[in-house]
Amino acid sequence: MEMIKLYNGVEIPAIGFGTWQLTERIEEVTGTALKVGYKHIDTAAVYGNEREIGNAIKASGIDRSSLFITSKVWNSDRGYDNTLKAFEASLERLQTEYLDLYLIHWPANAKRENAPQENADTWRALEELYAAGKVRAIGLSNFLKHHVAAILEVASVKPMVNQLEIHPGYLQTETVEYCRENEMVVEAWSPIGSGRLLQDETLVALAVKYGVSVATLCIQFLLQQGLVVLPKSTNPKNIESNLHFDRFVIADEDVNAIKNMAISGFSGLNPDEIGF
Ligand code: A2P
Repeated sequence: MEMIKLYNGVEIPAIGFGTWQLTERIEEVTGTALKVGYKHIDTAAVYGNEREIGNAIKASGIDRSSLFITSKVWNSDRGYDNTLKAFEASLERLQTEYLDLYLIHWPANAKRENAPQENADTWRALEELYAAGKVRAIGLSNFLKHHVAAILEVASVKPMVNQLEIHPGYLQTETVEYCRENEMVVEAWSPIGSGRLLQDETLVALAVKYGVSVATLCIQFLLQQGLVVLPKSTNPKNIESNLHFDRFVIADEDVNAIKNMAISGFSGLNPDEIGF
């Protein structure tokens, strides 16, 4: 499994199992992912599946130290004290002593009063958890360039990660480049546009050319851009094939064709527009 190194030396498996909207058969599906070899699981308090994921990890018998587990503090728990409490609650549900990565799930945006202070206080809690050794890395999620910049102004520990909606048709290039300039690794949620890209004409034609599925094409494209990729599925066949496929190289001209696609598969969740 490809690993990507964070600036503090921690290594993160380049493909992780996404669990947003995994609300049924959680233990079974997570168990399948662990069985086929996922070492990296991405969850969040608000997904409501941490306890069952913790159960599945316990039941798998896999050594905790060989897994990479990410969770996120939800919007209603922002602020220094609340974030510290929310973190402990996630640990309890996941039945683990530490997390590998803890993220602020969404930025408090300009629609909220005191947004910069809220984000700064939440970040200070993550710094505290990192200093205490309760989490191996800390970062952001859904932070656009200007939200990241505001955190960098107040941070003692710079974020190591930003997790964004990224897929063909929605590459968020400006934010990704800014994160990289600041040594952050970028993770892609909804790498196949939550399934909305499966019929996309450009992608279907390229998938035929390379003899792969559209899902595989999307995942390979994102890996090739140096991103951590978080596909999600409840189908055992898809769970397995999203991790285990023969790696190939998408030629430059085809990479450019994907980069030049019109906006496609976007969730509509713009962090500046939704009332987070
Ligand atoms: P399913 O659970 O039936 O596999 P994303 O990771 O971009 O959020 O996309 C998730 C969606 O894409 C789910 O609806 C999932 O359905 C579908 N999906 C995931 N992997 C594959 C795959 N390899 N082939 C086809 N559809 C997939």
